[in-house]
Amino acid sequence: MHDAIDTDTRMTHLLHIDASARPGRSGADPHGSHTRRLSHRFVRGWQTARPTDTVTYRDVGRQSPAPVSGDWIRSAFTPPARREPWMDALLAESDRLIEEIEHADVVVIGVPMYNFGMPAQLKAYIDNIVRVGKTFGFDREREGEPYWPMLAGGGKQLVLLTSRGDYGYADRLARLDHATPGVRAAFSYIGIDDALEVAIEYDEFGGDRLAASVARAEAEVDAAVASAMRRMDGMADFTGAPLA
Ligand SMILES: Cc1cc2nc3c(=O)[nH]c(=O)nc-3n(C[C@H](O)[C@H](O)[C@H](O)COP(=O)(O)O)c2cc1C
Repeated sequence: MHDAIDTDTRMTHLLHIDASARPGRSGADPHGSHTRRLSHRFVRGWQTARPTDTVTYRDVGRQSPAPVSGDWIRSAFTPPARREPWMDALLAESDRLIEEIEHADVVVIGVPMYNFGMPAQLKAYIDNIVRVGKTFGFDREREGEPYWPMLAGGGKQLVLLTSRGDYGYADRLARLDHATPGVRAAFSYIGIDDALEVAIEYDEFGGDRLAASVARAEAEVDAAVASAMRRMDGMADFTGAPLA
């Protein structure tokens, strides 16, 4: 039924994920998170232009998925028909998170940089959604490439909104950035490699440099909304509604 719907006119579904351990949004709440600020802006911008599109929200920063365990790995690698009830129970959270990704057209993730990588909560999330037989295939007898992405070809887009305390991750510190590259690698592996990225820098410096970085990032988020919409639906559907 879904396949029969014209992709130019059907509703778009966003999956909005926040991963900062900081609960509020910068600019709105004391000590708030910059990545929450950007992800909120992206989703609000999208909904302003396309109010009938739908959003699922998942706050892994405040409620982390369980990290994978030995029993989880054993369960995931047991073929579904041979799983015992406790195995299905253990994989239930992963099943739910994967369903959300399968259902999403645009996945928007706030990615704080913690010690040059992504937060542990976001890594736990990724370890739950990159799953054999669900989001990637593996067959050691297969000719050529034994691994294949299972979410490829659906036109899904990934939007990564990051923030760092230091500056210069495009040049001066490029070799130290394992935050968004780590997220991109995992999503590309399961077949989502159409990615946009926006970054705030200078959080640990504050002052004018942080303010300028935030302003630039907010403008880039607005452009990212427009760009993602164009790619999703074609120019005709983008209303160009200004963001408050
Ligand atoms: C545990 C922790 C580790 C951090 N590690 C780094 C780092 O390696 N490099 C960096 O530039 N900033 C680092 N920072 C600063 C954060 O990237 C920065 O505060 C960013 O704005 C966090 O995202 P948020 O504002 O959404 O919470 C770290 C912050 C925390 C809390």
